[in-house]
Amino acid sequence: MKKIILFLGICLLASCRQTTSETEKPETTVAPPAPLPTDFIEELWYKNSLVYSVDVEVFKDSDKDGVGDFRGMSQQLDYLKKLGVETIWLAPFQPTPNLDDGYDTSDFYGIDPRLGTPQDFTDFMNQASQRGIRVMMDLVTNHTSDQHPWFQQARRQKDSPYRSWYVWSKERPEKWNTGMVFPGVQKSVWSYDSLAGEYYYHRFYESQPDLNMQNPAVQREMRKVIRYWLDKGVAGFRVDAVPFLIEVATPDFDPDKPQHQFDMITQLHQYVQWHKRDAILLGEANVDPKEQEPYFGKEGQGMQTMFNFFANQHLFYALATTEVSTLKKALNETKSIPPTAQWATFLRNHDEIDLGRLSDEERGKVYAKFGPDSSMQLYDRGIRRRLAPMLGDPRLIKLAYSLLFSLPGMPVIRYGEEIGMGDDLSLEERLSVRTPMQWSNKIHGGFSEAAKAVRPVISAGPYRYSTVNVAAQQADSASLLNHITRLSSLRKQCPEVGWGKWEIIDTKSPHVLAIRYNWQGRSLVMIHNFSPQPQQNQLHTDPKAGLKLVDLLAKSEKQIGADGNFSVDLPAYGFKWYRVKK
Ligand code: NOJ
Repeated sequence: MKKIILFLGICLLASCRQTTSETEKPETTVAPPAPLPTDFIEELWYKNSLVYSVDVEVFKDSDKDGVGDFRGMSQQLDYLKKLGVETIWLAPFQPTPNLDDGYDTSDFYGIDPRLGTPQDFTDFMNQASQRGIRVMMDLVTNHTSDQHPWFQQARRQKDSPYRSWYVWSKERPEKWNTGMVFPGVQKSVWSYDSLAGEYYYHRFYESQPDLNMQNPAVQREMRKVIRYWLDKGVAGFRVDAVPFLIEVATPDFDPDKPQHQFDMITQLHQYVQWHKRDAILLGEANVDPKEQEPYFGKEGQGMQTMFNFFANQHLFYALATTEVSTLKKALNETKSIPPTAQWATFLRNHDEIDLGRLSDEERGKVYAKFGPDSSMQLYDRGIRRRLAPMLGDPRLIKLAYSLLFSLPGMPVIRYGEEIGMGDDLSLEERLSVRTPMQWSNKIHGGFSEAAKAVRPVISAGPYRYSTVNVAAQQADSASLLNHITRLSSLRKQCPEVGWGKWEIIDTKSPHVLAIRYNWQGRSLVMIHNFSPQPQQNQLHTDPKAGLKLVDLLAKSEKQIGADGNFSVDLPAYGFKWYRVKK
């Protein structure tokens, strides 16, 4: 039976791709296959999946050495299952000198020994699979660590085959200090290497030389890395720094106006699917909506999913100002994606909130509300805080989570956000939001029993582990953890959000966002009030007689008028999830 469903699913997938093609003509002699309930297509699991982003190093230490590990991860799988997590995205876990929290790899095929053995990793994969949880990993192949043996050879031997794996320049390029990703901290994108006697290109920190993606040998190696981890059972990759991965870097190029090799994304897509049909690419590409198309690829032959950075920054703008008009615009501007693709919706991630696509004035408003102190801001574009301390008001935090689960896309939640963890601004740059998970009120918040933890656990202030921790919140039915668990479980009954077509409904209020989803004869209306004032709204939907709205959160019902009008009372920062029913 499963095989038949799968086969039919593949047929539909193929038909999805054909209908989006501009050049292909539809077959006239063969009747198209009958439409299928698309949630049967297992390959498109990412249309609706709750993703949990976690860094093994700071999640749970099982062997009391102060560093989180894969055994600790395995121990906490039941916790994640209960939260409703369907996919885990692991931050880089390969050997690393850790100058960029693991995003500086020194061996693509290994496991950082601090996090466990290869067997611990395999056991974790098996344990996750037994619980029906998929595991994705970061694919960081734009650069290596400067400690990687490839770079070490490349810098020492001019005739080493690895020399051309990196990007060199004999002279200091004219644009040596243009296009830094970490402005204020990073001084250049070209640095002199005294052993090589040349300058090397690095989009990120000096310790992260860029790989030369023009070199077919590097591309081959990248495919080898992909295949290696697919064979180990990963469900896909969060592809790091996509715009930089595909940029054509040469000594005379302008890092502010790079050319991109988009066909590399298609090749990646095809390679991954050839080896594992339902494996996916989740792209990290903070691009303008006008540039998003080639990332998703023609006919869905690119990234299956991408983080919706554009909507994310406009969401923070709406939360800061109570006004939803630019968020609506951002959602509409990012609406058009291939039928097989999906956005990844998120609130916070492991980096700063990047507000670089807002105007200076808009960014200023978000700073003023959520990151007024310069210690909270980073790289002239963002805020290095966790969600709970930033939003403060518990009603606003709940509103934000309701949005996470009900905006178009697949929700991605960062570890610790589910209990409203705080940040530690005394830590450098983005480490402020990467403190260890707070499990209980025991030493180091139950993260580790070692004398010293890899990074300090938050132990003072309102977000200290003795107050904010999993154990305490599990015991409190009104806790954020239980609220999010309920929302996550309700979201699973709302497949329309991931599968459906959606439209924004006019609410005639600058503070209220209403979205209607339609899919397979099912329909949802999700309404959010961004204002601290209660709102009464008149809305309009299908002018069909006898329709009613079932409030999925309050478990009550109301009738829609025959003219399609209905009114909604929303408390301050209130939200409603309605199912439209006959
Ligand atoms: C993007 C990652 O999110 C960030 O944490 C990292 O520093 C850079 N890519 C470089 O890999």
